[in-house]
Amino acid sequence: MRDIWESRTSFILASIGSAIGLGNIWRFPYVCYANGGGAFLIPYFVALLTAGIPIMILEFSLGHRISRPAPMALGSVKKEFEILGWFALLIGFGICTYYAVVMGWCFNYLGFSVNLAWGQNTESFFFNQFLKISDSPMQIGGVQWMIVLGLALTWICVIAAIWKGVKTVGKVVYFTVIIPWVILIVLVVRGITLPGALEGLRFYLTPQFSALLDYKVWLAAYSQVFFSLTIGFGVQITYASFLPKKADVVNNAFLVSFANNATSFLGGFAVFSVLGYYAHQTGLPVSEVVKSGPHLAFVTYPTIISMLPFAASIFGILFFLMLLTLGIDSAFSLVEAGAASVIDKFKLKRIHVNIGFGIIAGLVGIIYTTRSGLYWLDIVDYFMNNYGLLVVGILQCFAVGYFYSHKDVQNYVKEYPHDRSIFSIPAKIVGLRRYANSKSEFTVGAWWDFCVKYLTPIVVGILFITNIFDRIKSPYGGYSRWAEFLGGWLVIIVFIVVAVILYKKKGRE
Ligand code: PHE
Repeated sequence: MRDIWESRTSFILASIGSAIGLGNIWRFPYVCYANGGGAFLIPYFVALLTAGIPIMILEFSLGHRISRPAPMALGSVKKEFEILGWFALLIGFGICTYYAVVMGWCFNYLGFSVNLAWGQNTESFFFNQFLKISDSPMQIGGVQWMIVLGLALTWICVIAAIWKGVKTVGKVVYFTVIIPWVILIVLVVRGITLPGALEGLRFYLTPQFSALLDYKVWLAAYSQVFFSLTIGFGVQITYASFLPKKADVVNNAFLVSFANNATSFLGGFAVFSVLGYYAHQTGLPVSEVVKSGPHLAFVTYPTIISMLPFAASIFGILFFLMLLTLGIDSAFSLVEAGAASVIDKFKLKRIHVNIGFGIIAGLVGIIYTTRSGLYWLDIVDYFMNNYGLLVVGILQCFAVGYFYSHKDVQNYVKEYPHDRSIFSIPAKIVGLRRYANSKSEFTVGAWWDFCVKYLTPIVVGILFITNIFDRIKSPYGGYSRWAEFLGGWLVIIVFIVVAVILYKKKGRE
């Protein structure tokens, strides 16, 4: 008996939970501000409609059609594409090794919130006292035990959340999606009622239309959409493979995408309103206090929390609880996609796979708990998202766009004998679209084929090539070439090798 979601809501929440993560709070608002403010919403929506949603539909329909996790679903298109599926999952594995460490920091900061332990100098507290950051990636230093503890706690939660596969996930996501939404609303209300908030929001959203002429802004929109929807990791394919045969595809893809966007947009209000307040209190311009990533969450936000006129600790606890619940379902979606695939192919016992996964990923994660951890985290993060993910994005479109078989078209014709229109469209991929449409309340047209076959691979291809050129010019983030190689290229090479091994290894029937 294959595993099935217990309800449509479980599936949708799980998929939304995977998409909504730290990125909605600490990445989107910043990317939006830095790429034209309110005007960025235009390229963002274009990217969403031409790449995000089409690929979401692709992943949902492929997973649903084949009813097996990502490697096998892609392998059914053409055998060798199974490698791509494993590679995608390995990129996800790479991400969850450090994502869990960030969750571990959040656990620590949740504790610090109780008495605002970060004190006055939050920056020094985070970098010098908490991370004890060294001078360069090569100066590894000792592990920080509090962070290891946080990491262990995270992995226990992650493994517990996927304990019985979708049966458990389907229940847990009610909490891990709804709790952060409620907290986010509380934080937005708190934020916009602070003095200076409007100035912050003006900063976030004032449209600079000239930005639209810059191709980099468009690329930023596409890469944000990819990252944010958790597409190209095999997660959405795998989650969709657990859908019952009668389930909607297109509608669900739109729903998940819009829910994710709304959260990002609202996240911007939570971030920029308090940045406005910060600027107002310190007399600094907003442009000087705006930050993204760990700096925003672990330095700037704590500073602002300490400034709040009342209930500072409560807001601190809420903020870090929000980050934890936001992130955890993204993390376990990656783990579940990997675990489900290994179980499907090698017929291992779930309990062994769960625990094995937690231990291996947890041990790999130790590197990020050392004094050089933040550097490695930064390098690996950059490479996973800017190379690994983009390669999968391009190849997946290529695989489905050009190799999906005609069989489905024929099946479709049997089902819908009056519809001759499919013969006028000379693409095989039409079979998958017909399949998606036959399952859906509202349907997609030939534009979908066009996006999958041409538009997305071209835009993402350009993104990939510009990234490569940047790296040829100089190593990422000013690190040494050696560190860049170890944390970046080597990881990608190892993942390719492991993906091929997993593909070659005989599965069990
Ligand atoms: N979609 C997540 C976010 O926006 C990012 C993510 C991608 C997390 C892949 C885990 C894996 O934060």
